[in-house]
Amino acid sequence: MQITIGTQPFAATQTEALVTYLFENGDPVQGRISEIDQSTNGLLKRLAKSGELTGKTLEMTLIHAPAGLQAARLLLVGAGKREKFDSAALRKISGSALRYLKSRGVHNFVFAVREDNATEDSAQAVAEGSIAADFESDKYKTDKKNDKSIESVQVAGYSDSERAAGERGLARGTVIGEAQNFARDLINEPSNKLTPKILAEKAEAMARQAGLSVDVLDERRIADLKMGALLSVAQGSIEPPRMIVIIYSPAKAPKAGAPVLGIVGKAVTFDTGGISIKPSEGMEKMKYDMAGGATMLGVMRALATLKPNVKVICVVPATENMPGGRAQKPGDIQTAMSGKTIEVLNTDAEGRLILADAIHYAKQLGATHLVDAATLTGAIVVALASINVGVFGGGDQAWTDKVLASAKAAGEKMWQMPMDDEYREYIKGTVADIQNIGSGKGGGSITGAWFIREFAGDTPWVHLDIAGTAWNDDAKSWLAKGPTGVALRTLVHLAMSY
Ligand code: BES
Ligand code: ZN
Ligand code: ZN
Repeated sequence: MQITIGTQPFAATQTEALVTYLFENGDPVQGRISEIDQSTNGLLKRLAKSGELTGKTLEMTLIHAPAGLQAARLLLVGAGKREKFDSAALRKISGSALRYLKSRGVHNFVFAVREDNATEDSAQAVAEGSIAADFESDKYKTDKKNDKSIESVQVAGYSDSERAAGERGLARGTVIGEAQNFARDLINEPSNKLTPKILAEKAEAMARQAGLSVDVLDERRIADLKMGALLSVAQGSIEPPRMIVIIYSPAKAPKAGAPVLGIVGKAVTFDTGGISIKPSEGMEKMKYDMAGGATMLGVMRALATLKPNVKVICVVPATENMPGGRAQKPGDIQTAMSGKTIEVLNTDAEGRLILADAIHYAKQLGATHLVDAATLTGAIVVALASINVGVFGGGDQAWTDKVLASAKAAGEKMWQMPMDDEYREYIKGTVADIQNIGSGKGGGSITGAWFIREFAGDTPWVHLDIAGTAWNDDAKSWLAKGPTGVALRTLVHLAMSY
């Protein structure tokens, strides 16, 4: 799909569809899109007056062969209340328009931005929204109808002097959108097509192509480094684990003592629960238990092109969680790489085990500030549903605030959860240093976060629980059903903010 900036008048634009968006409550059609109204003899105002077009969020009004326009169709998308309009809204509007037109066999369209929106940010949002919306989970379908595809999108409404800004936004949005789809494609892969070894191979290929340095630790090096927590999860599977490390270094070497960002993502390529086995209903979804890891790989892919001024170390522990003759059993005691001992009371709380060693290793490699993303707990789905990512911070609230600010700027909903010291008591060990599930009642996402925090120690750290948000159970008008790639935009923004 090609995305370009357009500066020509709307009425004379030859395209399969001209798309724009209208606000609620009698939108005074003004600025450059009033040209559409004038050329069509007041069509926009007439539609609004008739009550047929309300401007309610993502309402679609399609007009064929609009008199006065060269476009074959005019698509008007509801933009909701003008006061609430932002880049996140624009991302959804452009994504919804793309999916609406694509399903109707349209191959190219012109997306006209409104007054005040001919900016770099808007172009970025339209590129991100369109590219994410174009993603389909049909890789393994053999009867694909290939005629339904979008070949080109033009983002119009820019003046000649605004073109350069628009093009910068498109370039950045394209890199981010494609990185998000790269992650989503990995998340979608079933576990028989994506073992830890295959994930590592794909990560390595991506890193080499992007010019990033990469080091994949195999089971022997993992054992040599005494990563006992990761090994304890992996031992139940015939598939060997991998610890994937990718490093981005800025061209201009950072000064000594400069911050180093460490991003860590859980990659359990399939989580059966192990001996504490999960119920069979819905278990197939546990192929997405590597979403955190895939997202971090996508972040690195984007950063290789966007080139932030900070060194970034990405660590992805990859394993299956299987029951088997060699699997760890409830009550087993494991020694993590850090030396801490862990009583594994539930083998289904495996994400925190592999993150323990990954976080410790990221620190050893030099990370000074950490963020991890993991499909960690079912409890976060209870607390925040599929709307917000759960955010858990260590002692450094300024670092948590920085991550939350990036989430806001990137248009990803995240909500900070409490981390009072009292919750730490719940994971205090009786026979080992700590236990991998809480002894108290409830607060499952918080005790999970506290477990990881034990390994982050004093290093500023934020944990993102994406169990509820990494997978869309129902298709949205702007996004297909399946993997979302959530948190990628936030982390790219975070790295770019240095
Ligand atoms: N991968 C799951 C968490 C999960 C649940 C992800 C739903 C996506 C959707 C994780 O490994 C897990 O099983 N967690 C347990 C922890 C419990 C045993 C303390 C859970 O949430 O039930
Ligand atoms: Zn589990
Ligand atoms: Zn899991």
